[in-house]
This record gives sequence, structure tokens and C-alpha cells, in this order.
Amino acid sequence: MLDSPTNTTSGGGAQLLEKLGPIESDSLLALIAAANADTRPTKIDVGVGVYRDGEGRTPILRALKAAELRLWETQETKSYLGGKGDVRFAELLRPWVLGHHAGDDRIMGLQTPGGCGALSLAFKLIAAANPGARVLVGTPTWPNHIPVIETAGLEIVRYGFYDRDSHRIRFDEMLTMLDGARAGDVVLLHGCCHNPTGADLDIDQWRDVTRVVAQRGLLPMVDLAYQGLGRGWHEDAEGIRLLLDACDEVIIAHSNDKNFGVYRDRVGSLWVKTARAATTKLAMDHVSQIARAMWSMPPDHGAAAIRLVLEDEALAADWQAELGEMRDRVNRVRSRIAEADPRLAYIGQQYGMFSMLPLEVSQVRALRDSDAIYMADSGRFNVLGMADRDIDRFIAAIVSVLGD
Ligand SMILES: Cc1ncc(COP(=O)(O)O)c(C=O)c1O
Repeated sequence: MLDSPTNTTSGGGAQLLEKLGPIESDSLLALIAAANADTRPTKIDVGVGVYRDGEGRTPILRALKAAELRLWETQETKSYLGGKGDVRFAELLRPWVLGHHAGDDRIMGLQTPGGCGALSLAFKLIAAANPGARVLVGTPTWPNHIPVIETAGLEIVRYGFYDRDSHRIRFDEMLTMLDGARAGDVVLLHGCCHNPTGADLDIDQWRDVTRVVAQRGLLPMVDLAYQGLGRGWHEDAEGIRLLLDACDEVIIAHSNDKNFGVYRDRVGSLWVKTARAATTKLAMDHVSQIARAMWSMPPDHGAAAIRLVLEDEALAADWQAELGEMRDRVNRVRSRIAEADPRLAYIGQQYGMFSMLPLEVSQVRALRDSDAIYMADSGRFNVLGMADRDIDRFIAAIVSVLGD
């Protein structure tokens, strides 16, 4: 007779997985689970990084809904598409990501499963070209950057990007770090809406970074996950445009998950520029081969729907209008918080969904226990996590925990 499935000590075959050590759970995922489990009606979840409207909902955009309906009506097959995913999606997205560089045949792009997929491919491509490459990472950064880089087997060199007390970018330190880097080192940059700090480089700082990156022979790897949610669609890519002007090699990991609100559909793209079209073609062949071993092909639905939006002028205009409404809400909520207390004024000068509050872990926990306000232990919060009705209560709780 077979052993019962609950008996873990006997039976044939390997016991390999018994050797696995414990792991620390991803703190952000744990935070999301804790917030979901909290049934207090006053709960404010500013931990998870999704857009919420004034009512506290994460809506499906009008243009996307219309495109999904059209897709449902017209799509005739769900047969395999191939490793590059929806090629037309990437073609249509090209001018949106690259601006005046769209005509440059040394830049090629392909669809990926979200921004995460693009980042994974990018770092594995770099490791294939140069396993010894080091990646310069300004901290704090989006926590998932670290395991994605480590999984590619690359060495990480950290430097301090942001000063939590003055709420400023440690720009001199950043430039000194880049200036001392080795040719061939990779510089990870947030294109806009820095996660977790909201502190974006201004255009003069981008100019300085571009100059040093070009002079030192560094490879800029730009994570552009929030295009359109900062200052404006093209404004949010100004830094990237400068890098493309000045550097032979640039890599961009792009996400549409936030700016189209298709988080769970996993829509991203990877863009690679090299000095010659033939080299870029070769790099993209490597990328395709790497992707084949990881997910074989990206999921289709979200990219196909976005393709239909971009293909249709009226839908594209409506998407941009709705994205503009999202951006306005971010900046409105930022201003409300900034005006409430001089110690929070910096939040009005930052961009995107995230900022960091000058709180200790004990204060973050106290907010969770007594006010049902959920944010990361670092004090990072999603500016848009609260509905309009919760903004005053959120501000009052923060001001109270900050003390006099
Ligand atoms: C900075 C940054 N990069 C990349 C991503 C990945 O985005 P996606 O959900 O498209 O994989 C995120 C998502 O939170 C992010 O904050």
C-alpha cells in the first residue's frame, strides 16, 4: 500500500528538496499579504505600488477596455507568436520610448513579460557579453533590482544615492562614483519616478551623468517603469534621450504595466542600442535565446491590447488623456501632503508614485497597529495608495507620529 501523502519521511525517490534552507520572504510581498488580511474598515494601504483613483480603485483604462473588446471580437487564434512576442506592438511603441531616436537602426526592441522580464534579459545579456561586469547601483533602489542582478551572476557595487534626512540626491557622491568606475561597468539608472524615493535627476544632473558615462566608457542601463507618471510622457524620457545622443551603447528596460494599468498582464519591452546595427541584431539574437530558456515567449494579451490602442489615434489620445489624469492626481496628492507640514514639503518636489517618510521602523509599525496604515519599513509609501477621503487622516497620522 502507498504511504499517505502526509508521510514525509518514507517513500522512494530523491530527498533533494529537503536540503533547501529557509529563505527570508520578500518584505514587500509580506506587507501586501498583511495589508490584505487586515479587515479594519479604516485601512490605508500605501505599501503596494499600484495607481489608485480618488475612490481608491485601480481602474481599467477606457482605451484599454475598448481595445480588449476589439481584440475579443477580431482575434482569430491564440497560436504561438514567437519569442519576440507581438512585433507590431514593439514597432508602435518605438517612437513613444525613443522619441527622436526612433529612426536609429542601431536601436532594436522586443516585447518582454513586464519591466521585470526586460531587466532580467538585460542583465543576462550583459553577463553573456562580459561575465566580469560590475553593476553600479545607487541605494536605496527598488528591492527587486538586487536579486535580478544577482541571478544574472553580476557583481553589485552600491553607492548612496539619496539622503533621507535632507531628502536630496547625493549627487556629488554619485558623480564621484561614476568618475571612478572602470570602463565597461554598468550603471543602473531610474529613468523617472525613482522608486522608492521619488527623487529624480534634473536635466542638468542628467547632462553631467551622461558626460561622465560617455567619457568613462560605462554602459547605462535605464529602468523606465513609470514613463508618463512623472512630469509628462516625453519629459520623463529626457534623460534617456541625452544618453542615446551621447553613448554608443544604452539599454532600456521599459514597462507598460503602470502607464497602461495592465499590471497583471505583464507588458514590458527591452531596447538595446549598440554602435552598429549588426551588433544590435546579434545582441537581440542573444536576448531571444536567453528568453527562450526562461519563458520561451512573453504573454500576448496585454501587448496585443496596447497594440490596438497605439494603432488607433483616437484610442491613443484617450489613453494619453487618462494617463494625464493619473499624473495630475499624483501631483495633486503630493501637493496636499507637502502643504500640510513644512517637514513634508519635499514631497511636493518629487515625482511618481513613491516617496520616503523620515520614519523609524517603530513609527512605521505604530502606524500599522494603531491607524491601520500600511507602508514599507523604510518609510516608503505610495502617494496614490489612499482614496481622496483618506488623505486628511493619512496626513494627520503622519504628522502625529513625527511629533512636534
Ligand atoms: C523601479 C521598477 N522597475 C521595474 C518594475 C517592474 O515592473 P513590472 O511590473 O512591469 O515588471 C517596477 C515595479 O514595481 C519598479 O518599481
